[in-house]
Amino acid sequence: MVLGIFTCGLNNLITTMKESQYCVVPLHSRPEMIKNCCILINSEWPRSETARLRTLNMSCDDFPTCLILLNGDRVVGHCKISLISSMSDSCFIESVVIDYERRSQGLGSILMQGAEEYVAKKGIKNIYLTTRGQEQFYLKNGYNICEPINLYGYTSFITSSPMTKEKARYIVSAGPPPPPMPINVKKPHLPIVSAKTYMVKKL
Ligand SMILES: CC(C)(COP(=O)(O)OP(=O)(O)OC[C@H]1O[C@@H](n2cnc3c(N)ncnc32)[C@H](O)[C@@H]1OP(=O)(O)O)[C@@H](O)C(=O)NCCC(=O)NCCS
Repeated sequence: MVLGIFTCGLNNLITTMKESQYCVVPLHSRPEMIKNCCILINSEWPRSETARLRTLNMSCDDFPTCLILLNGDRVVGHCKISLISSMSDSCFIESVVIDYERRSQGLGSILMQGAEEYVAKKGIKNIYLTTRGQEQFYLKNGYNICEPINLYGYTSFITSSPMTKEKARYIVSAGPPPPPMPINVKKPHLPIVSAKTYMVKKL
């Protein structure tokens, strides 16, 4: 049972539970945790370690920011927060994951609360996310279903932060959708995939 949340230090949000202590911190404040964080995320969404580490190493105060939920020195949760350049005061949360062994114990909610407190301190007013199947979890955490937003316009960093090779590469990977197929090309039969649900929480 959660007893309460209080802040410790500038970047750290510490959550006290009945017996053990959980802490939501930016990943870049604990670089020694990057490898374990990579293992956690890859256990849910397998991807090359090199690519994953490249993304995680981009975590910074000016966004994108990866937050981790720590239990002592163990990484038990992660989420990534990016700014949405086309929408003021808004961010996008993705890659929300809790260690498989620790699910359904309230830790996902603690992580979301920590993330909300973190972005609120940065002046963010709206948190957007997409999900396919975890709607109930987010509804319980105060998120509402909303109209789809243009996520192609979102960027993982604020315009005032310096451009780096890594960020330039990110822009390319998050670039606009491909142009429409020529009219005379027969569309392939694609399997029907359930649409993503867009959700928002106003802080
Ligand atoms: C989604 C996830 C982060 C939730 O973390 P969690 O620690 O299990 O969640 P919590 O224990 O804090 O759950 C909070 C509430 O949401 C509910 N909930 C959690 N997952 C749910 C699900 N899949 N379906 C319905 N309700 C769910 C819980 O019942 C709980 O409600 P309660 O307090 O009334 O019992 C975790 O299941 C996970 O990592 N899943 C795999 C990765 C994933 O799908 N991430 C989301 C990408 S959009």
